[in-house]
Amino acid sequence: MTATALFLSLSLMTQPDSASASRFVVRELPYAYGALAPYLSEETMRFHHDKHYAGYVNKLNELLLDSPFAGQPLEDIVLSADGALCNNAAQAWNHELFFEQLSPQPVREPSPELRAAIERDFGSLEALQAQMNRAAAGLFGSGWVWLASDREGRLSILSEPNAGNPVRRGLIPLLGIDVWEHAYYLDYRNRRADAVAALWNVIDWRCVSDRYAHL
Ligand SMILES: [Fe+2]
Repeated sequence: MTATALFLSLSLMTQPDSASASRFVVRELPYAYGALAPYLSEETMRFHHDKHYAGYVNKLNELLLDSPFAGQPLEDIVLSADGALCNNAAQAWNHELFFEQLSPQPVREPSPELRAAIERDFGSLEALQAQMNRAAAGLFGSGWVWLASDREGRLSILSEPNAGNPVRRGLIPLLGIDVWEHAYYLDYRNRRADAVAALWNVIDWRCVSDRYAHL
């Protein structure tokens, strides 16, 4: 699946509502708010989804009112806009990808194809996780750590500040770790490394593998 095709599939999740073709709607979590405990508490998920993610969607809709991007697909806004409009569109999109890849009953193993690529490019799954953990710990301020692929299936890890997204670099995101404090501070306070280590317990490798299977 190309980056554009992936965007198109994900944009189906963020549909304009029926009242206005230029407004995006907040997508509900695909599991209960408390389903990821003890790794992520119900309180964290309610704030993360209902306040922060929903806030990005609402701000995006507000900014679109006087924008030439009104009525355009989310992917076009992320790829072509700049400033606050791009930031809020990207955060809306990033969070949908983030929430989708988590599960209370995660598949804990990558597909054979993805595992082979991980072993080729990082040595082992454990080495990949350790490298992403280090990247998360070392990212100054707010941002995202991504496992991404190019269109030939070569994998890489990206540390992106703020709303940064691999798609704007021509890469396809497979797995995103949100290292904004709002993602973990209620449960882990300043212990970001502990939060990221815990997150692996709810990463659904079936979801991540499906993304890799459709490059
Ligand atoms: Fe977040």
